[in-house]
Amino acid sequence: MASRLAELLRAGRSIVSNYQTLINDPTIGDKKIDSTRFVDEAVILYAQRVGQEPLSGDLTERDRRLLQAQLDAMREVLDEHQDDINRKGIGFKGFVPAIFARLINEKFAAKVGEEARVRVTAPEQLVRNRKSLPDAWERMIIQDVFSDPKRPKGEAYMEVAEVDGRPAFRMLLPEYYTDSCLTCHGEPKGEIDVTGYPKEGGKTGDLGGAISIVLFK
Ligand code: HEC
Repeated sequence: MASRLAELLRAGRSIVSNYQTLINDPTIGDKKIDSTRFVDEAVILYAQRVGQEPLSGDLTERDRRLLQAQLDAMREVLDEHQDDINRKGIGFKGFVPAIFARLINEKFAAKVGEEARVRVTAPEQLVRNRKSLPDAWERMIIQDVFSDPKRPKGEAYMEVAEVDGRPAFRMLLPEYYTDSCLTCHGEPKGEIDVTGYPKEGGKTGDLGGAISIVLFK
């Protein structure tokens, strides 16, 4: 279930990424990326990657509710950003995968935060948005587990731990910079990127962040 939530988030981010050039095109008004098309494409991409649709298979009622909440969050974020996305005469609109992900995660938490949480965090020194700072558990796993060069890259870490005093299943899934990230997170370190943040000086393959899933018991 945690993997499904992480992969669905990733699929949504990838759709934003696929449309980034179109979204940032100042010469086109209506981009025709409405929420229905967007969510449909995210579901198809998820199915291509995972082998089945997010809501297929043997799911408990709660699992279904969580995945549906994530899909609804995506739909709402796309609906709320139609005016921005379709604004003519403006190139970069700030609608990038990381911001999209944070917005859907915030909506997800508002809907089902008592049952589950999805966040994207990063090694502390890389964090741009304070809302994405790692908590103590995430910081420890990033520092002590993900730093181990013998650990297979990309492997999720899972544990039962307390969150807000409640027992929960936790999963942290490491993510690494690819070439496409480096226009913003790469070198030269400190140079301001298109989004207005100083670049982190990252290199391809560096740990860039982690998807963090909490499923309360
Ligand atoms: C167009 C510039 C841009 C590109 C390209 C980009 N990012 Fe980011 N990234 C940002 C911005 C801006 C934020 C802050 C978003 C927010 O306000 O929550 C961010 C936030 C993040 C975060 C969340 C933690 C934090 O710092 O707030 C992670 C993890 C991350 N990016 C990883 C990546 C990875 C991995 C890639 C490549 C697959 C990538 N980014 C590509 C601009 C970019």
